[in-house]
Amino acid sequence: MNMTERYTENQLSALREKIRARLSPKRFAHTLSVEACARKIGEELLPDAVSALSAAALLHDIAKELPVDTQRELACRSGIRLTGTELLCPAIYHSFAAVSVIRSDFPEYAGERILNAVARHTVGCAEMTVFDEIVFLADFIEDSRTYESCIAVRNSFWSAFYAAKDSAGKELALHRGVMESMDRTMQILIGKGNYIGEDLLFARNAQLKKILGD
Ligand SMILES: [Fe+2]
Repeated sequence: MNMTERYTENQLSALREKIRARLSPKRFAHTLSVEACARKIGEELLPDAVSALSAAALLHDIAKELPVDTQRELACRSGIRLTGTELLCPAIYHSFAAVSVIRSDFPEYAGERILNAVARHTVGCAEMTVFDEIVFLADFIEDSRTYESCIAVRNSFWSAFYAAKDSAGKELALHRGVMESMDRTMQILIGKGNYIGEDLLFARNAQLKKILGD
């Protein structure tokens, strides 16, 4: 494990090639776009963590194209507690499964910060760090997303982010962007008649607390 969680451009290029070999071209293009977006936000808010953000973004969907039964097995093996409702949401297995894949196949990236951000990129959690939030939001708003919800959050986030005068204002824009993504995700799940993992609700309320300062 790389304890400093800082990576050189050579290491990241090698990682990109390994990931390219495991994903479909479409998923790989999405992955690169998440990386670019996470770096762009990170350069302003967490300049020392940009290479770790790259790695987390590159690895976030590493398990998404595995068969769903394998995803579930790897998710359970990650040691992360999934609630009963979350076990009924196959769309989120891949974020927990990725933790197992990173530990076994990419151990140099298996530091706590990267593993947490990858694990939290679908339902989030009540204790999200700025690092987690950047990966979460980048996944929702990256430039190749064409869903109406993604475009709306992308536009509102970037205008607020660039209008903010200092890093506190930019961080607030991030909290809002993440909450807006969560709200829209819940609306989509309701529209489709799907379950909502309870951690998503706890995560959403935690974002509102950060915004209101309660
Ligand atoms: Fe993704």
